[in-house]
Amino acid sequence: MAATIRPKTLADFIGHDGLKQNLSVFISGAKSRGEAMDHVLLYGPPGLGKTTLAHIIANELGTNFRTTAAPMLTKQGDLAAILTTLEPMDVLFIDEIHRLPTAIEEVLYSAMEDFKLDIMLGEGPSAKSVRIDLPPFTLVGATTRTGLLSNPLRDRFGIDLRLSFYSAEDLAKIIKRSAGILGIDIENDAALMLAQSSRGTPRIANRLLKRARDFAAATNAQIISGNTVKTALFQLHVDARGLDEIDREYMQVIVRHYAGGPVGIDNLAAALSEPADTIEDVIEPYLMQLGFVQRTPRGRIVTELGYEHLGLKK
Ligand SMILES: Nc1ncnc2c1ncn2[C@@H]1O[C@H](COP(=O)(O)OP(=O)(O)OP(=O)(O)O)[C@@H](O)[C@H]1O
Ligand SMILES: [Mg+2]
Repeated sequence: MAATIRPKTLADFIGHDGLKQNLSVFISGAKSRGEAMDHVLLYGPPGLGKTTLAHIIANELGTNFRTTAAPMLTKQGDLAAILTTLEPMDVLFIDEIHRLPTAIEEVLYSAMEDFKLDIMLGEGPSAKSVRIDLPPFTLVGATTRTGLLSNPLRDRFGIDLRLSFYSAEDLAKIIKRSAGILGIDIENDAALMLAQSSRGTPRIANRLLKRARDFAAATNAQIISGNTVKTALFQLHVDARGLDEIDREYMQVIVRHYAGGPVGIDNLAAALSEPADTIEDVIEPYLMQLGFVQRTPRGRIVTELGYEHLGLKK
């Protein structure tokens, strides 16, 4: 199902118009020169379209799409096996690229810069270094946080694309498009209401749409109405700004246990029993975007807006 909802061309990719225009120029440039496109770094919070864009790039370039994720590359040989079987101009997608082990990252440097593979064969005194020519290719790396990327790696990407949260209007368009593909009808105000509760995130918009469809089916409704959406959001404990239970709990912990903050990430992780990574990648970016939470050098604080949202006074 998700495979059909996922846009396959730039034209189908909704929102981020500036980014799409630039990308389309880079794609045509590379195609007209008959060269591999420059390496692309995609970054932004989960669910905003990084994997989707990587597929689209290969599709628009008319090349093969090869995919892997950094946690799957544990030995230099793992990377070598992929690089040596690429065809000219192919797109190689490495997800979670901030998690590459240093030894593998170093192999990637010359592969990206000169299309050469430098690896050690054997071990101990008989070990020798060999250099293999690679076909020209485009590396597309995705990460939720550029801060975790080493400078030498970041510098080797010629194209930097940052995905930010989507406006409610763009999310409503995405919901309408997905509804069409799923073969269901949704009223305009219902789509907008869903969009406003989707945390600026297409993946969440699509997920909420499917749940709203279930609630519509439960009442034999032919179309998803505003009332159906209200019921669905209420039952799923998602509020009007898109916050769910864990978001509210995060803010409540800071308010109740730390008098509104500042509090360090490790204390929060312990109090919520969530990994610090999840808090930083998934929970905080949207709360900061709303202005409910701030990261200060001394820790996280809940702002006046945040208190207001919880129905409390600072
Ligand atoms: N601009 C867009 N227009 C329409 N649909 C989109 C758009 N961006 C993302 N989507 C939808 O949202 C879903 C999630 O997107 P995607 O998997 O590309 O996110 P991601 O950034 O790779 O997330 P993660 O960091 O978790 O890997 C896709 O399956 C796609 O259907
Ligand atoms: Mg992805």
